[in-house]
This record gives sequence, C-alpha cells and structure tokens, in this order.
Amino acid sequence: MSNQISKTETDLNYCSDKKMPVPPTGPEAKPLPKMTLDGKIVEFVPGDTIMQAAERVGKASQIPRYCYHPGLSIAGTCRMCTVEVEKAPKLMTACSTPAADGMVVHTRSEKVLKSRSGVLDCLLANHPLDCPVCDKAGECELQDYDYEYGPRSSSFAEEKRVFPKSSTRHFSEKIVFNMNRCVACERCVRFTDEITKTNDLVMLNRGRKKELTVGDEQKGLYNDYQGCLSDFCPVGALTWTDFRFQKRVWFLRHDPSICDGCAKGCNIEVHSEKEIIYRYAPIYNAKVNGHWICDEGRLSYKMVMNPNRIIAPLVDVMGHGPVATTWEAVVPFVASTLKSSSKVLLVVGTDATQEECESLKKFLTRLSPSLEIRYFNGTGVKTSAENKPLDHLLRQSDKTPNTKGVESLGIKPLDSGAISGFDTVIVFRNGRAGIPSIASAKNVILWGVFSLEEVKALKNVKALMPGLATQEKSGTFVNSDGLAQSFNRAVVHRGFGLEVARIVEKF
Ligand code: SF4
Ligand code: SF4
Ligand code: FES
Repeated sequence: MSNQISKTETDLNYCSDKKMPVPPTGPEAKPLPKMTLDGKIVEFVPGDTIMQAAERVGKASQIPRYCYHPGLSIAGTCRMCTVEVEKAPKLMTACSTPAADGMVVHTRSEKVLKSRSGVLDCLLANHPLDCPVCDKAGECELQDYDYEYGPRSSSFAEEKRVFPKSSTRHFSEKIVFNMNRCVACERCVRFTDEITKTNDLVMLNRGRKKELTVGDEQKGLYNDYQGCLSDFCPVGALTWTDFRFQKRVWFLRHDPSICDGCAKGCNIEVHSEKEIIYRYAPIYNAKVNGHWICDEGRLSYKMVMNPNRIIAPLVDVMGHGPVATTWEAVVPFVASTLKSSSKVLLVVGTDATQEECESLKKFLTRLSPSLEIRYFNGTGVKTSAENKPLDHLLRQSDKTPNTKGVESLGIKPLDSGAISGFDTVIVFRNGRAGIPSIASAKNVILWGVFSLEEVKALKNVKALMPGLATQEKSGTFVNSDGLAQSFNRAVVHRGFGLEVARIVEKF
C-alpha cells in the first residue's frame, strides 16, 4: 500500500466525507441515480444527502453551512444550507435532505439567497464587531458568508447580547473560548460526544441564552484532540492558544506533509511564513487520520523550530567537548575517525526515512567495511510489534514515524548492551527517536537532528553532522498499518543542516 501526500482543499470543511455512502460496484451494480443541481445533471449514490451529492461533484462550496461537518453526525439546526427543491413546498436543508432521482435543486435562487441573508442577519444581530482583533479573521465562515450572502444593513436595532464572563475564558491551557462569537452550531459538542467520546463540552439553555460550557468545571476541556475544535469552529469562538496572535492567516503558506509525532503518520498541512512553521492542521485521509490530528502531533512543530536545535556542524578536536565548526572541518574529521576505527556501529533511529536508511547503509559500508547497523526507537517501545494504540482514535505508543519501514529494510533492533565492543558509534536520528545509551563507546558521532541539551547529556561526542527534520525534506515513512506515505519538503531548513544525500557527496 502506498500513498503520496498531496495538496488538497485548504478549507478542511469541504473535504470528502468518510461517512459518505460508497458507490455500488460489480456486475450487478445498477446505473447511479441522477439529479439536476443548478442546471447540471449530476450522479449521486443512493443514500446521499443533497450536500453529499454536491460534494461528490465538487460543488459543495456552493452550499454554505455552519452545523454540518463531514466528519460529524448531521444536526440540521443552523438553516444556512437551505436550497430550493422544485415541487417542494418550502426550502429544504441540503445537509439533511436525501437526494432523490430526478430531483431538481437550485442553490442560488432568489428565495435561497434571501433565506441565507436572513440567517446571517440573525447571527450577526448578536455577534461582536471584533474581526480586526479576532484570530479567525481570514478563515472565518461568518465573515466569508456574510461577504457573499449577508444583508447590506442590519435590521436589528436593540443592544447586542453580551456574555461578560465568557468573552475570554480558558476552557483549558490549549483552548480559549469566547461565547460572544459563538454561532451555536454545536459542531464542538458533537465532536466531544461522537469523536473523542469525552463529552467535555455541553450547550446550556436555549434561544438567546444558549451558552457553551465545559461539562465538568474541575476538569475543564481535557480531550487529546482539542486543536480540532479550533480548526472546525466556523468562527473565532474556540481558538488555539499556541497560535493566538502569532500570525495573520493570510500570510501563511500551506504545504502538505506527514506528522512524525507517532507511528500513525497523520496527514498534515504545514502552515509557515518565511520558512518559520506556525502551526500544523489536518489533511483529510480516510485511510489514516480521517479529519483529525492529536494535540501532541499538532504541537510537534516546536521540535523543528526549537531555538536550541543544533543547526551547524560540531567537532571535538581538543578533547574538551564539541564546538561549532564548518562542513570543511567536520567531514575529514569523521572520515579519519571511521578509517582508524576497527569496529563501527551505526544506530539509526526509527524516525529516519526509508531513503535515508538505504543511503546510510550503502555509504557507511563503503567508508567502513567493518560497519554493523542496528535500529533504535527509544520512545517506550523496542519494535513495531510492541506498539499499541493509546486511544480509540489515532494516538500510538510508538512516538516515531517509521519503525515498520526500518524493519522492512531488514535492519535488526539494538539489543541492550550491544554497543560495547565498538570503538565508534554513529547515531543517526531526526529528533523523534530517543537516544540509546552509548556511554561505553570511545567515539560518538551524531548525525541528524539533536538539541543542545541532548548533546550536552552525552559523553564522548566527537562530531555532529546536522541534518534535516521531516518537514524540511522529502522521504517515505511506513505507518503502523503498513501504509507507505511519501512526502515532500514543506519548509527550507534555516541553518547549515543538510540532507543525507548531500552529506554523503562530501566524503
Ligand atoms: S464554539 Fe464554535 S463550534 Fe462550538 S457551537 Fe460555538 S460556533 Fe459552533
Ligand atoms: S496521532 Fe500521531 S501522527 Fe497523528 S497527529 Fe498525533 S502524533 Fe501525529
Ligand atoms: S448546515 Fe444544514 S442546517 Fe446547518
């Protein structure tokens, strides 16, 4: 199985639906029914709603929505998605009305546009005018829909409803809530009921007094997927503290990649500006992560951006510990250390890509024929067989992305105590795998992604050759389900680190 991560719709709410009915196949499959959508004949799968039929033909963006989300159950409460169905006595909600053969649907008729404008008029009646200071500005569905369908003036003359206590409230360390901005779509409530199954958000009261809050004031919001709330909240009511006020979203570049925070290999979009990563967001992939990613993975960009990451070569010529140097100095130093070593061990982290493992093996065997190679994981599991799901959704106990891949290349795991007997040990890793105990080795050469603290904690480090983190290079990981996923560079490395192929050329 393989999968090439590619750029998809940046508006995650318009991704395909994992719950969509599957088209029948095989010799007995009947021709698909058809409906007319804004004058065009489109096929749909029996069981589709009008919204799903529109999504299948790429017309979903013609139907605005608040309560509908393709990864959640249908609520049909916001009335933003109403469409005109010929012969129906009134407007119908596209998210909850089943498509029927021969149905004729208009998504932009005069009646429909008037209804959308009315819904927005009601929502805006109580919405604060704080777009200039709202983090959602630029990706806010209220802003966008109002621009396209909203009334040109408000018919509401009364005072706006204000929730003073909930205007900026921390539901948890990760999420800030502002009830004044909430449009009561209840996507968030359904998410904690249906997806995380933690029920940590509830909606109190009805009508004008409707108010979102946490189910348990002591615990607050506690699920491990809180960043998803901020992704799909259509307005700036639930915002992700890590990203708040960091960057206006329209400055961000979006590049597809893979999360290397665990063996699941969730598909992500890297949001960056000037090669600085500001956040990760999920990319829909039915085979891997659906619409979601976990908070731990979402925050894992911090390792790439760590100000204490070593991004220049280091060498220890005087025996007082490694100091910063150049590639011109470190390459001959490493070459001569390897040549003068009688037994060399390469330990490769299970965060290395398939391509890196292959080229490391070939290159080091050429340079040091006495080379032995082993893999290490160091995140609580030794082999892929020990990996376990940490919940019913995505999180895995193996906190590295490629244990299965490294094993598929025939590399054996590192046994405890196996490092003794080698005069030089090369440790290659990309910042995710834990570092094995290498205190007994006379010479330690580090290669890849390490922090200053990690280097200081090690003894006998003679040289360090800085490498690239996952988001800074191309490669392939094999996830815990055996799915090989290739990815391309999302950001350019901002130091002197080089990819393995470039370092190999220097020897
Ligand atoms: S907080 Fe956001 S997702 Fe939750 S009900 Fe309000 S608008 Fe919807
Ligand atoms: S489940 Fe694993 S791969 Fe997915 S986002 Fe979390 S850490 Fe990353
Ligand atoms: S999106 Fe259909 S009623 Fe809300």
